[in-house]
Amino acid sequence: MAKMSTPNAFTPGPESGKAAWRLDGEVALVTGAGAGVGRGIAHALAEAGAAVLVTDIDLASARRVAEELAAKGARAASFPFDVRDPDQAEAACAAAVELLGGLDIAVANAGSTARMPFLEMSPSFFEEQLRLNLLGTFLTCRAAAKTMIARGTRGRIVTISSNSGRFGGRGRAAYSASKAGIIALTQTMAIELAPYGILVNCVAPGPIRTEKVTAERPSEAFTCRMALPRFGEPIEVGRAVVFLASEACSFTTGHTLGVDGGLTVTGIMEG
Ligand SMILES: NC(=O)c1ccc[n+]([C@@H]2O[C@H](COP(=O)([O-])OP(=O)(O)OC[C@H]3O[C@@H](n4cnc5c(N)ncnc54)[C@H](O)[C@@H]3O)[C@@H](O)[C@H]2O)c1
Repeated sequence: MAKMSTPNAFTPGPESGKAAWRLDGEVALVTGAGAGVGRGIAHALAEAGAAVLVTDIDLASARRVAEELAAKGARAASFPFDVRDPDQAEAACAAAVELLGGLDIAVANAGSTARMPFLEMSPSFFEEQLRLNLLGTFLTCRAAAKTMIARGTRGRIVTISSNSGRFGGRGRAAYSASKAGIIALTQTMAIELAPYGILVNCVAPGPIRTEKVTAERPSEAFTCRMALPRFGEPIEVGRAVVFLASEACSFTTGHTLGVDGGLTVTGIMEG
């Protein structure tokens, strides 16, 4: 991504000579990448050729994922990063530069999907959800953007929202508010970072099969509204991130891309 001046979606980048959707030679940082969706994103970025800094609050899990990537032949390293801490955000971006040689792509994935009925929700629960999901995304993106700007990198930032950021859902007052906030934050970052050549986009996954999921299919509450009534896989979210992080995506910024089996676009399904 760095130093490519005239991106063209139909031909390989003029300076790099690589296919527009490849990420060879680029360095990506992913938060919350020790498990679940973040792990899938790390694998997809590595598959596309990027070197990946796998970060997580749980360093042991980040190490395991970095080892998985290295076993597939990718350049990868791990680093401890609690996204709620601004100093750790700076340190993680510096680590990407020190350990892997730069920072071209940042993916703010870490988050909690915790739910609670609205009438029982305590201020501390609400605050903690916003702190992890929304403040954490803000801190990750701000530190990454500052690093990219300081290094003259025309980078890419991808945030992770949810179908719950686009409409309400039972038990999701805090979660939906945090994920809607991420969509709005992405739009504003797209405006303010465009002058630096940094594109900022968002992926909004629907129900994704992570290590925590034991059910075969999402509940009927989801599937009755899905054109593709199944769980998505973390790697499917990851491949959408790869598109938004690559030169194949050159005239799109501030966008939220649903990876949700059609959950957010369906209306009348029968009759
Ligand atoms: N799984 C889904 O169906 C789904 C759907 C829509 C959106 N998402 C979004 O995807 C993201 C990941 O969700 P998931 O389902 O993979 O969750 P998960 O719980 O399986 O994984 C979350 C990872 O984040 C790490 N983490 C937790 N707190 C952290 C912190 N403070 N700092 C850094 N890392 C931290 C955890 O250690 C874990 O490795 C979240 O933003 C979530 O809202 C998930």
